[in-house]
Amino acid sequence: MTLSTQDFASPQYDLHLANVRFVSMMPNDEGYQVQQGHIYITQGKIAAICSSPLPDKAQHSLDCQNKLVTPGLIDCHTHLIYAGNRANEFEMRLNGVPYQTIAKQGGGILSTVKATRQASQEQLTELALPRLDGLLASGVTSIEIKSGYGLTLKDEVKMLRAAKALESYRKVRVSTTLLAAHAVPPEFTHEPDQYIDLVCSEIIPYVAQEKLADSVDVFCESIGFDLEQTERVFQTAQQHGLAVKGHTEQLSNLGGSALTARYGGLSADHIEFLDEQGVQAMAKAGTVATLLPGAFYFLRETQLPPIDLLRQHHVPLALSTDLNPGTSPFADLTMMMNMGCTLFGLTPEETLRGVTSVAAQALGVSNSRGQIALGFDADLAIWDIEHPAELSYLQGVKRLYARLIQGEVSYV
Ligand code: NIG
Ligand code: FE
Repeated sequence: MTLSTQDFASPQYDLHLANVRFVSMMPNDEGYQVQQGHIYITQGKIAAICSSPLPDKAQHSLDCQNKLVTPGLIDCHTHLIYAGNRANEFEMRLNGVPYQTIAKQGGGILSTVKATRQASQEQLTELALPRLDGLLASGVTSIEIKSGYGLTLKDEVKMLRAAKALESYRKVRVSTTLLAAHAVPPEFTHEPDQYIDLVCSEIIPYVAQEKLADSVDVFCESIGFDLEQTERVFQTAQQHGLAVKGHTEQLSNLGGSALTARYGGLSADHIEFLDEQGVQAMAKAGTVATLLPGAFYFLRETQLPPIDLLRQHHVPLALSTDLNPGTSPFADLTMMMNMGCTLFGLTPEETLRGVTSVAAQALGVSNSRGQIALGFDADLAIWDIEHPAELSYLQGVKRLYARLIQGEVSYV
């Protein structure tokens, strides 16, 4: 099965994906609705979807022999760029030292900050490639990457540039998020408000002006920033035209998710400790709930996110790796689909929505990505599987046949 080029005088389509079975993941679909047919792509977009081949010619044609096509998977919350690793802290935790205690003693996020500050932009990009390759092998076509291990203007900018540079090494689309408010840096240990002053007066304005980030995120938590500090960051982000999102209610219930919703946030992420008021606020604002079972699992948490309440209030559920060295060292999005089912009780269909159409919503790109629909970007994953539920089921076996990004086929 190879890509064949045919010599047509003036082809109407660039690419014909012939004999596909596909799940569109359109919001109003009931169930998966596996359909059979043909997908035509022009200028990187889905131009026609039909049950039998069209008479019009396509420049290239790929016979998919009934393989299953889904929207390309979207990993909407990662900390992919960092140096060093925290295997030693994993060991400390298993010897009984809690994550928060390690953080308060200057370890945790701050130990990754130290290693990341010492690395060059080029080194950071290079260190991220093997992790990115893991994600791509699990069908990812778009990924969000946060800063947050630099905590100075120079080092946050270095991280964001290192993240964006990945697009020139691999076929992938990178969205960037400024997470300067991830932890209080050592220089400001006793003056967190002054650090927030720096974030608001220098870091956000520079990052917005240089168009280095699409969104701004805050770790709203006792070991991060309080509600007042979080709100200052959100206000400044909005003044600079940047979307907001939050790491909220991960370890305690501070009300950060409701605050994120009040600022029209794209998503509130983690949310194990979210209460009904927070759920209602998110429902009202259309803020996505991003579930991160890898962090829940790796921190051996017991407090489950309020999945039933979120369902009752129709809050859209996204699912992501949260790939990072401290709480979720997992570079595989289908493994998170499996954990979403086993740990959080999601259905395989919910997990597939969570890594396609809803993940697109969490990145503010739901009008162009995450669905197989006319006019949408031709970002697709082609799988050697029978049924979409298999993505949440078997792990550790290569099932991805190819990925398409804006109509361009790649076999990794
Ligand atoms: O999403 N919660 C805060 N940030 C990361 C953890 C980062 C780290 O421990 O390095 C998270 O879990
Ligand atoms: Fe995170």
